[in-house]
Amino acid sequence: MTEFIHRFEPATTAGSPPLLLLHGTGGDENDLLGLGKMISPGSALLSPRGRVLEHGMPRFFRRLAEGVFDEEDVRRRALELGEFVADARKQYGIAAPIAVGFSNGANIAAALLLLKPGALAGAILLRAMVPLSDPPKTDPLKAELDGKPVLLLSGQNDPIVPASNSGQLAALLLDAGARVDHRVLPAGHQLSQADVTLARNWIGSVE
Ligand code: MLT
Repeated sequence: MTEFIHRFEPATTAGSPPLLLLHGTGGDENDLLGLGKMISPGSALLSPRGRVLEHGMPRFFRRLAEGVFDEEDVRRRALELGEFVADARKQYGIAAPIAVGFSNGANIAAALLLLKPGALAGAILLRAMVPLSDPPKTDPLKAELDGKPVLLLSGQNDPIVPASNSGQLAALLLDAGARVDHRVLPAGHQLSQADVTLARNWIGSVE
């Protein structure tokens, strides 16, 4: 098994979609458990800690500067995360999860969707940006992403993710075949109550 320190909480309601919780820079495997429970009470929660350290802060891939990614590392780490998810599914007996990623965690989830869409049943991307400047444009990608639901929630005053960048991500995922719902909220990079409400309603509608 690709080793990730992680938390796993089994489902308490049969049929609820499992969630893959992916924290932001400096977070850990405990951070998003509360959010996961608010978004989908009863779901199994799989929550790994990012294996990259930036000045002691866990992340899911290396970056050269804020918003400037080491794309070779993005690719390697996204595939590694995909292997972890596959192994964890066998170990815990869960279906393909819906990723719920915040910031750096949303970026690795977007990379995973573009590189190995079969790993996920869908994704909630909170404050995500384009993770790869040259993602694969293959027919198999299109077929695998076909109709996969993605909720992208952006902040209109986000100092880290310009509106043009989140718009580009939405277009990229749409073009690759995903069913994208992109909302821009009156918020910054931090999450707001509206994120929780929209995510909860969205997950109820795709279940
Ligand atoms: C990233 O590095 O993934 C983005 O800059 C968001 C962040 O984690 O600050």
